[in-house]
Amino acid sequence: MRRVSHSIASPKTSIVGPSLRASFARQFLVGTCVGGVLPASLDASERGLLRHHFNVLTPENCMKPGPIHPAPERFDFTASDALVSFAAEHEMPVVGHCLCWHQQSPDWMFEAGIGRQAALSQLRQHIHAVAGRYRGRILGWDVVNEAIADAGDALRDTPAAREIGPDFIERAFELAREADPNAELYYNDYNIERPAKRERTLSLLRRLLASGVRVDGVGIQGHWQLGEIPFDDIRAAIEAFAALGLKVMITELDLDVVERPDCSADISVQRAYAPAEDVYRDGLPAPIASQQAAAYARLFQLFGERPGAVSRVSFWGLHDGRSWLNTWPGKRTNHPLLFDRGCRPKAAFEAVLGVAGGAA
Ligand code: G3I
Repeated sequence: MRRVSHSIASPKTSIVGPSLRASFARQFLVGTCVGGVLPASLDASERGLLRHHFNVLTPENCMKPGPIHPAPERFDFTASDALVSFAAEHEMPVVGHCLCWHQQSPDWMFEAGIGRQAALSQLRQHIHAVAGRYRGRILGWDVVNEAIADAGDALRDTPAAREIGPDFIERAFELAREADPNAELYYNDYNIERPAKRERTLSLLRRLLASGVRVDGVGIQGHWQLGEIPFDDIRAAIEAFAALGLKVMITELDLDVVERPDCSADISVQRAYAPAEDVYRDGLPAPIASQQAAAYARLFQLFGERPGAVSRVSFWGLHDGRSWLNTWPGKRTNHPLLFDRGCRPKAAFEAVLGVAGGAA
């Protein structure tokens, strides 16, 4: 049986004091996503922050189909190999993200008209090559990402769904299990805490489980807007997904402090911001920082309410300067995470520690 260490590596960092990973060690893993080619893509402060506070890593982009498999017979494992090696060196499990997604996927993989068999063959080659390469070294895979439409009853209209059919999801999970039998297998999506999309997700998961497909967990991404966090929906979603016997994970947590068109996380939504709309370019005002701190504290209390239900909480970014929300849905200065651009703890960090009693 593969050994995935959850042990806490002794941090070789100058950072001292209670850590997120130690404070919540009895409840869930605390992770973050990282980009670039580790360790060079992070400076010394960032590496210290990463090792001190987090105990599970998700690649922000390098394991997505496009970056890792740009052409039918060409792979680029440079960044993904570096991340897996860095994680192993620091005894941090890795979540593979993601094997099948309609974004950052190469056009050739499910090119219009290639038909079901060719599309399945290419999906098989992709998943066996990528998940097979890291067999035994990945805690779990986001096998399928964002397959459910934001509205209506159908799946999202994607190239994989069009060329393979709606069962592309089952096939992807089967292929992932073939490639790495010991990796946990997850479905990952945004807004699936909200009632309508939650019900459609529950239906999908019940269909997968009833058809014998192995699904181990569901990822609620958690790209929430400060002031509009659906706390009650989140609680209901954790309960409902846990009731299926699945691990529930918060996989991409951030609290956006700048208004945005709607509460999705659909990367295809774009919006230009005038300079005057870059309202927090000089920093986050104290009242907003306090509001964000209270919201994060309330979320972490909620994540721990049902013991054992939530197995992991991963932030989507190491600190404010690394957040995708500085460029989506348009370029403006954002402050969505627990640490500022100088890797310094914000009020939100202190508030989250307070939830765990602040004990290391
Ligand atoms: O690497 C290329 C670079 O070579 C090129 O010069 C540059 C200019 O176009 O683009 C670079 O790729 C960008 C990549 O991030 C790496 O920086 C892509 O354009 C850009 O679209 C991509 O954005 C990522 C986005 O997913 C789309 O894949 C964000 O960093 C990432 O935070 C975001 O994360 C997603 C999750 O994977 C799934 N859930 C939603 C979440 C937010 O959209």
